[in-house]
Amino acid sequence: MMSKLIKAINEQYNFEIESGYIYISMAHYVKDKGMDGFAHFFYKQAEEEFEHAEKFREFLFDIDEKPVLAEIPKPQEEFGNFTETFKTALEHEKEVTKRIHELYDLAIEENDHRAKSVLQWFVDEQVEEEDTFRGIIERLERINESWAGLYIYDGELGQR
Ligand SMILES: [Fe+2]
Ligand SMILES: [Fe+2]
Repeated sequence: MMSKLIKAINEQYNFEIESGYIYISMAHYVKDKGMDGFAHFFYKQAEEEFEHAEKFREFLFDIDEKPVLAEIPKPQEEFGNFTETFKTALEHEKEVTKRIHELYDLAIEENDHRAKSVLQWFVDEQVEEEDTFRGIIERLERINESWAGLYIYDGELGQR
C-alpha cells in the first residue's frame, strides 16, 4: 500500500512525463511556424522533463515502491502567438511549482526525510525553470512579435 505521500510522488512522476509531452507539442507548434530555434528549446525542455520523471522513478524504486504509469492527456495543439506560447509554458511551470510545494508539505507532514531530500532538489529546480521562462517572455515582449526580432532570437534560443 502506497502512503498518501508516495501516491502523490507517483502522480508527480506521471505529471513530469505529461510536462514533457506538452513541451513537445509546443515544439511542433513553433517549428511548424518556421521557428527551428524555439522548437529546439522546447525539445530540450521536454528532455529535461523526462529527466525529472526519471529522478522520481529512481526514487520510487530506491525506496522499494513500484512506479505506476497513468494515462497521459493529449496536449493542446494551438498556443497563440510566440509570446503567448512561452507565457503558457510559464503558467505550466507555476502549476508544477505549486505541486512540488504541496508534495514538500506532505513530506514534512509525514516526516519523510528521504522524500524531503529529493523534493528539495525540485524546489530549487523550479526556481530556475520559472526564471528561464520569465527571461524569455521579457525578451519576447520587447521584440513584440516583429519578424526581424523573432528571427534573431530564434537563432539565439537554437544555441541552447
Ligand atoms: Fe519538471
Ligand atoms: Fe519544468
